[in-house]
Amino acid sequence: MIIRIFVGQTLYNVYLDEVQTNIVAEAKILASQNQYYLSQSEYQPVRDDFSNQMKEYSNKIQARILLLDPDLRVLEDSDDRLTNTVYASNDARDSLAGSTVVRVEEESDRLIVAEPIVYFGETIGVAMVVKPLTELHLRVDEVTSALDIITIFGILIVFVISMMFADLMTKPITELTETFTKMSQGNLQQRVEIHTRDELEKLATAFNIMSTKLDQVDVQRQEFVGNVSHELKTPLASIKLLSSSLLGQEKNEEALYREFLADIDHEVDRLNEIIMDLLLLVDLDREKLSLNYKPALLNYLIDQILHRLQPVIKEYGSQVSFTPVDRIQLDCDGKKVEQAVYNIIQNAIKYSAPDGKVEIVLRREGKFAVIEVTDNGIGIQPEGIDHIFERFYRTDKARSRKTGGTGLGLSIANQIIELHLGRIEVDSELGRGSVFRIWIPEV
Ligand SMILES: Nc1ncnc2c1ncn2[C@@H]1O[C@H](COP(=O)(O)OP(=O)(O)OP(=O)(O)O)[C@@H](O)[C@H]1O
Ligand SMILES: [Mg+2]
Repeated sequence: MIIRIFVGQTLYNVYLDEVQTNIVAEAKILASQNQYYLSQSEYQPVRDDFSNQMKEYSNKIQARILLLDPDLRVLEDSDDRLTNTVYASNDARDSLAGSTVVRVEEESDRLIVAEPIVYFGETIGVAMVVKPLTELHLRVDEVTSALDIITIFGILIVFVISMMFADLMTKPITELTETFTKMSQGNLQQRVEIHTRDELEKLATAFNIMSTKLDQVDVQRQEFVGNVSHELKTPLASIKLLSSSLLGQEKNEEALYREFLADIDHEVDRLNEIIMDLLLLVDLDREKLSLNYKPALLNYLIDQILHRLQPVIKEYGSQVSFTPVDRIQLDCDGKKVEQAVYNIIQNAIKYSAPDGKVEIVLRREGKFAVIEVTDNGIGIQPEGIDHIFERFYRTDKARSRKTGGTGLGLSIANQIIELHLGRIEVDSELGRGSVFRIWIPEV
């Protein structure tokens, strides 16, 4: 539409220019031809003849012609209407002063050209040509209405095509939106099938990965809650059984009371232990980024752990040795690293009894501090190794029950070491023993 306005305007100007040039040329011709006539104007036959010529000429150029004398009296009018009247227009006056006047009269939509008639250096009249511009408008309109039709068709075609594309483009988005909505209502098994080979397909793939992950997390959460409830229920059931049987007996000896109460006490300790572990895990999940980094001397840290483990070492009758190859000071959350290493050494003691030998080595390897814990215990079967870091996982439920524990120890250790950007490596052979290697980067 802008082009249409622009083209219309330009065409009009070009045509007007052309008409102006023509009419000015005609006016000049008229002026020079009429010098003779003006000097002979009183002679009637010449005048009649001239009148006719003037009309013919006017027809030919499709414009009205007026000839004025120096007093602005109309000597000749191709329309006859103004003959012998005084035509006192500014154009005529300006022209008498000696210049060619060219003017478009907007109100009447006409082009007016006034040319002085000069005879031997003296202005003896004015030749005026008045050309209506209607035809010019018609010519411009012809072109612009063609442009109008093109514009309308163009708009229609663009509209239809964009509707088609819009539909194609919004369909996958609608599908995605519907799936998002279903997911937000708790239905996590949602997947989208979009094969548009563009950004939307990538988005759909990312979405599918995300929903798969979410789904897995949800399953893990359910399992976790199930495991927690189970682990808490077992000691509770024992306590209930012990207390009920005590209450159920009419007369109890003090020794029996003591024995049962000691068992109840033990179960309460176990409950406490589980809950402490769970709370620690929740903290680790939440505190991901807020580790309390401080320089810690690993040699001292391991000595401390061994000191704390003395009762366990005694209970299981193990031989524990510690070989510090290097003296390593490290920026880390000391309390948490201590907890992780403690869990692993405790496992080595527990799962190598009786006649257990546990060797602990501390050394530096490149940018890493390595704590290696080797035992000569029961070992772990290959299928188990992939799972020992999972929460509540234990390779042998029956035996584990005897040794106590919940299956959270390694999960906690792993999480702490991963938070320190390190890793735990396991080599184990069933019946021969295991090696746990803790790698912590020295940054
Ligand atoms: N040094 C080891 N030798 C053999 N098996 C091991 C050893 N360390 C861990 N395991 C196996 O991995 C399982 C998970 O260990 P984890 O420390 O997470 O739990 P736990 O020792 O059973 O209980 P707790 O939460 O009290 O530590 C253990 O139950 C055991 O079967
Ligand atoms: Mg353990």
